[in-house]
Amino acid sequence: MSRYLAFLALAVVATISFLGFQGKTSKDTPVYVFDDMDYQNKYKAQGENALFADGRDARPPVAGTVARGTGLEPTKVFSEDFRRAESLNPAFVTGKDAKAAFLAGFPEKSLKLTNGQPQPYAIDADVLALGQAKYQIYCAVCHGDAADGNGIMKVRSAIEGDVAIVTIASLQTSLIRSYPNGQLYDVVTNGKNTMMGYGDKLSPEERWAVVAYVRALQLSQNCPPELVPAAVKAQIK
Ligand code: HEC
Repeated sequence: MSRYLAFLALAVVATISFLGFQGKTSKDTPVYVFDDMDYQNKYKAQGENALFADGRDARPPVAGTVARGTGLEPTKVFSEDFRRAESLNPAFVTGKDAKAAFLAGFPEKSLKLTNGQPQPYAIDADVLALGQAKYQIYCAVCHGDAADGNGIMKVRSAIEGDVAIVTIASLQTSLIRSYPNGQLYDVVTNGKNTMMGYGDKLSPEERWAVVAYVRALQLSQNCPPELVPAAVKAQIK
């Protein structure tokens, strides 16, 4: 029995001294039995490279490269208020109120801080112009200039007999008109079913501007008589 215990003790000591305590940090170079892909030739972001005239591993983008996403603006990222405005006013970023319900209208406060406080958000001509520009770039190909679902993608599908995007929605239906603004914002941010999201390409301000413009397009196709200007009414026969 004592010989068995001695052998067991030796085996335990030998195993621990060979493998070490798992999870213990060590400054020693680890013993690699299988080094998998830990060691391989590769270029690193900040690495040097004699092959290129500028001596850098990382290649600058080709001239004329179109940035994906909105890009990080250094002045913004390093400003004190970056992210702080979003944490002070999460509804602007998520489109939802504190109870996680979609905002019915537009957010009350913007991401602009004055004396550390978010300032009021208002839809004006500038916001609508921004929304129009972004809608025409990102949405009109599918949903059409009038948001009726007749974008160039539909025309093209018909010509080429391609049935890839038969699901393109008209945004002029009573269902979409009845959506709270926050839900439209959510579709733009995260997409829906077969539509991809645009959260990585449009900033929160741009997304709300698109929502405002979609509302304007809906109004243009379904304007209540009392909102039609007299001058326009006079032209209607
Ligand atoms: C590549 C085509 C494409 C583009 C571009 C596109 N959409 Fe869509 N969108 C779709 C399709 C397809 C659907 C239907 C999704 C489904 O229900 O399957 C849809 C649905 C929607 C809906 C209705 C969602 C619902 O709840 O039924 C809204 C609102 C919408 N899109 C807004 C936008 C806006 C705003 C933009 C621009 C930022 C945009 N879409 C860009 C293809 C597109």
